[in-house]
Amino acid sequence: MTDSTFTFTDLQRVPQSALPALLKRMPKAELHIHIEGSLEPEMIFQLAQRNGVSLTYPDVESLRRAYAFKDLQSFLDIYYAGASVLLHERDFEDMAWAYFQRAAADGVVHAELFFDPQTHTARGVPMGAVIEGLHRACQRAHAELGVHAELILCFLRHLSEEAALQTLEEALPWRDRFMGVGLDSSELGHPPSKFQRVFARARRLGLHVVAHAGEEGPPSYIYEALDLLQVERIDHGVQALQDTALMQRLVRDQIPLTVCPLSNVKLCVFGQLTAHNLRQMLELGACVSIHSDDPAYFGGYLLDNFQQTCDALQLNAWHAYQLARNSLQASFVSNEQRQIWLDQLEACCLRALSS
Ligand code: HPA
Ligand code: ZN
Repeated sequence: MTDSTFTFTDLQRVPQSALPALLKRMPKAELHIHIEGSLEPEMIFQLAQRNGVSLTYPDVESLRRAYAFKDLQSFLDIYYAGASVLLHERDFEDMAWAYFQRAAADGVVHAELFFDPQTHTARGVPMGAVIEGLHRACQRAHAELGVHAELILCFLRHLSEEAALQTLEEALPWRDRFMGVGLDSSELGHPPSKFQRVFARARRLGLHVVAHAGEEGPPSYIYEALDLLQVERIDHGVQALQDTALMQRLVRDQIPLTVCPLSNVKLCVFGQLTAHNLRQMLELGACVSIHSDDPAYFGGYLLDNFQQTCDALQLNAWHAYQLARNSLQASFVSNEQRQIWLDQLEACCLRALSS
């Protein structure tokens, strides 16, 4: 890992009024987005009509009103119902393309999209329709928007490890279309230790490995993800601060934590954004970055997450720089490509300093 170019003292000189423009312009990597969580209510209704799927909500407004969650599970119930309108390759492509257009406008230069194949194959949707549809949108994002995009296949942790192993085998004909595997869905009661064999298999296949841990679950789930699954990044990880030794290890080893502030508030992990621990973790030297999780459900895309978090936690240009830089450091791109974006980030900050 290269040293930061800017010190706190340097970037503190950027006026707060220049922060919104800097946040937008900085090249950023989106590393924690569930692409099914980018399905806006309008698109859910459009696809339901196109595919003849019936929904339990009469209209967009009543669906949106149901987006009042008390915890992760209450969200997941609605999220899986929304995903039921996705049937054909084109649906997956349209969903991801709509996301990429928003991402490009937010200054995202690289996105690693989580997708949940088991949510779809359980309804009879072919694996190929899911992966090829998403892949086509990724190619189009690169060609037309200049956004680099990759896919990460997630296993649903409320299902068995056997089901995860089967899903991985079923996806292997498209091995070159996804760069890694992840672990999502209901965390409590489904520790990472349940998925040791499937993660070992994924690692042997040369796939990158990440897992959600410490969103609602205890620090022990983060230890398990690191020690038993040997993950390269922790998704969320906000419960790590409960355990000093764990926090020291995350800082020492610079294990990336992909934090999703608006999600954490919507799912009641924190009572309000001002109570979020992201600033504390960042100032302890952890490799934390900001992401959007399920932006259509949680009230904002990447730039909204940055802006609202900076406002609520009174972050300055130094924090913003660290957050963008950490997202690039944590991404699974070549060092050559990473350096190009790090240089662009530096140029953005220099411009903010001289304006
Ligand atoms: N946590 C766990 N699983 C998920 C989430 C989340 O926030 N979003 C979609 N699947
Ligand atoms: Zn997530």
